[in-house]
Amino acid sequence: MNDATRATARELVAPSKGILAADESTGTIKKRFDSIGVESTEGNRRQYRQMLFTTPGIGDHISGVILYDETIRQASDDGSTFVEVLEKAGVIPGIKVDTGAKALALFPGETVTEGLDGLRERLAEYGELGARFAKWRATIFIGEGFPTEFAILANAHAMARYAALCQDAGLVPIVEPEILMDGDHHIDACEDATARTLQALYAQLAEHRVDLPGTLLKVNMVLCGKGCPDQASHEEVAAATIRCLTANIPAEVPGVVFLSGGMSDEDATIRLNEMNKVSGHPWELSFSYGRALQQPSLRAWRGDPANLEAAQKVLAHRARMNGLARTGEYSPDLEASAA
Ligand code: 13P
Repeated sequence: MNDATRATARELVAPSKGILAADESTGTIKKRFDSIGVESTEGNRRQYRQMLFTTPGIGDHISGVILYDETIRQASDDGSTFVEVLEKAGVIPGIKVDTGAKALALFPGETVTEGLDGLRERLAEYGELGARFAKWRATIFIGEGFPTEFAILANAHAMARYAALCQDAGLVPIVEPEILMDGDHHIDACEDATARTLQALYAQLAEHRVDLPGTLLKVNMVLCGKGCPDQASHEEVAAATIRCLTANIPAEVPGVVFLSGGMSDEDATIRLNEMNKVSGHPWELSFSYGRALQQPSLRAWRGDPANLEAAQKVLAHRARMNGLARTGEYSPDLEASAA
């Protein structure tokens, strides 16, 4: 069993490829659709995801796509399920299985991610539907007096239980602790919170007997808070992130796939590229972007079938740019090649 999950984890971080996160919950996709004035109906969500997944050459730079419960059950206009569409394109289907971050009782301002109840059965069903990997996201906030050790531990424990259940079901768990950019904190506060979170997470994964080569880590880059007046340079972000990962991630982990977390699409590419210019880290450094891959394509689409081809071109372009950032070969000059 370990052999299969280890092989899938390595496939997901194959050279010049990364993951497309298209697992927005119904609430989140509504926000994205609101921004382009499109109503969030089941039909429009299906059309949008169909546009993304049928992008010509999607498999060139996308190794896997994270789906949402509704999406893994949907099909394209020609009747093939989205899982079949992706597999045909050489893309591995995955699934978000947490049920969201909820207020952590008696810890004002902090959250714990739920979704363990019935997870064994849901994983078995998702496996039958074709998912080969899963995702669970925990949110960690920086503020006055937090993150607390308890919120970090509660989330790490839940993530480790999820990861063990995934491996038991033959799926690769992506563990995703996200230290949010909300706030005006300095980059040092993010580095400290990220380090504490990763230490607790890897301690819990070890206690839960999770096989690290059959996992992937999805994490934030080490960044200043959005409201911090003194923003770090791309080089500083890359250096702080590599330093934090090197100190806290075991070498057996095959890959780190970053989330974009509200960075602009180009910043997310530039910073990944900066990190990959530095050689010598034991894990692959890749991407699992949601907004940073989808935003330009969503804006080009705007719910109009006439824009399908243009929107797909924009997605393919962003995927290619991030594919180049996997080896430090990206340059902002290449953005002009989008058209
Ligand atoms: P963003 O890249 O938009 O942060 O989304 C990634 C993701 O999957 C968050 O869970």
